[in-house]
Amino acid sequence: MKLLFKNIKQLVQVREETLKPLKGSEMKELPLLDNAWLLVEDGKIADFGKMADLPTFEDASVIDASGKMLLPGWIDSHTHLVYAGNREQEFVDRINGLTYEEIAEKGGGIVNSAKKLQETSEDDLYLQSARRLEEVIKMGTTAIEIKSGYGLTTEAELKMLRVIHKLKQNYKLPVKATFLGAHALPPEFKNDKDGYMDLLINEMLPKVAEAGLADYVDIFCEKGYFSVEDTHRLLEAGKKFGLIPKIHVNQFNAIGGIKAAVAHNALSVDHLEVMEPEDLEALKSSDTMPVALPSCSLFLGIPYTPAREILDNDLPLALATDYNPGSTPSGNMNLVISLACIKMKMNPEEAINAATINAAYAMGILDTHGSITKGKAANLILTDDIPSYGFLPYSFGANHINSVYINGKKV
Ligand code: NIG
Ligand code: FE
Repeated sequence: MKLLFKNIKQLVQVREETLKPLKGSEMKELPLLDNAWLLVEDGKIADFGKMADLPTFEDASVIDASGKMLLPGWIDSHTHLVYAGNREQEFVDRINGLTYEEIAEKGGGIVNSAKKLQETSEDDLYLQSARRLEEVIKMGTTAIEIKSGYGLTTEAELKMLRVIHKLKQNYKLPVKATFLGAHALPPEFKNDKDGYMDLLINEMLPKVAEAGLADYVDIFCEKGYFSVEDTHRLLEAGKKFGLIPKIHVNQFNAIGGIKAAVAHNALSVDHLEVMEPEDLEALKSSDTMPVALPSCSLFLGIPYTPAREILDNDLPLALATDYNPGSTPSGNMNLVISLACIKMKMNPEEAINAATINAAYAMGILDTHGSITKGKAANLILTDDIPSYGFLPYSFGANHINSVYINGKKV
């Protein structure tokens, strides 16, 4: 099966190899080929070049991409896309003056979603989640990480992870699963955090690992949720089962969680709306990817991750949606990229690098995805007829995606 894109106006994110993520200084550049062709063979990027040097390919189906950009598909390395129902009422409560924290204290928030999920059948949960996954694929997401964490009992966490596993089997894009049992304290453990930590470590983790249902382990390291000490305990326990950490940290307060994550070789630290100088220091000389979630900041009205400070310290940065019912009911990576430019002062080149190469690193798939590189999966976005790639973040809120390809197949 050969597929040839020809007359591509701009082939974006062209790299010979991508062994490492891009640091701040390297993210300013987005390598392009103007007026190009690209050949897909057996679901992979087989070759590409300039139209002036187009070889003859027998038996290839041809797509005329005149006026269009071809880019690697977006990679969303942080979502909670498997959830039951919605939290529209809390959205209205916040409009009317309550804060996200106040809603959580009153038994809303994560615990509210957990109650709904426990009452929802596995089949129904799958159908609701599959609909969301199809929606984000249409918007250009061609690889996705999904967390548990709305179960908060052993059975309900396993149910969520089985749903993620079923999505992975039924859809062709890469799906990574993260065990986030340490998302919030369930009501039964309201005054017994150590009891819940014991349950997480002694029962949930072993069962999740034994069933082979998780790639990563996560914890919400935050005042009122889980402490730095809890983070150390859980990540240490996760390591015994081969689970690599990707953690929620510095969303509302900087309590030292980044240093803890780095000490456990976390693949990523996510949120980072509040950053202290020692957090930036801890990230230097680490292999941990900082991940910003600007649509969460938009929806909650909280500060944006200080991207400029992170990049100007020559640290890498990735972007993700955080798609979830409470703080970000949107899985639109195009909006995330626009917000990164508009609110976080990232240049379009930096934002696109953050949503492709660096996002692939944050998901653990950089060797196979995230750039236009020979041998990588042909997970691609073909845009409408637009002036340049920078028009994507510029025309915020618009949809300029013409079609999405996963392993060379149009979805
Ligand atoms: O990443 N911060 C913790 N977890 C989610 C939100 C959870 C919720 O409100 O349901 C987040 O923003
Ligand atoms: Fe999150």
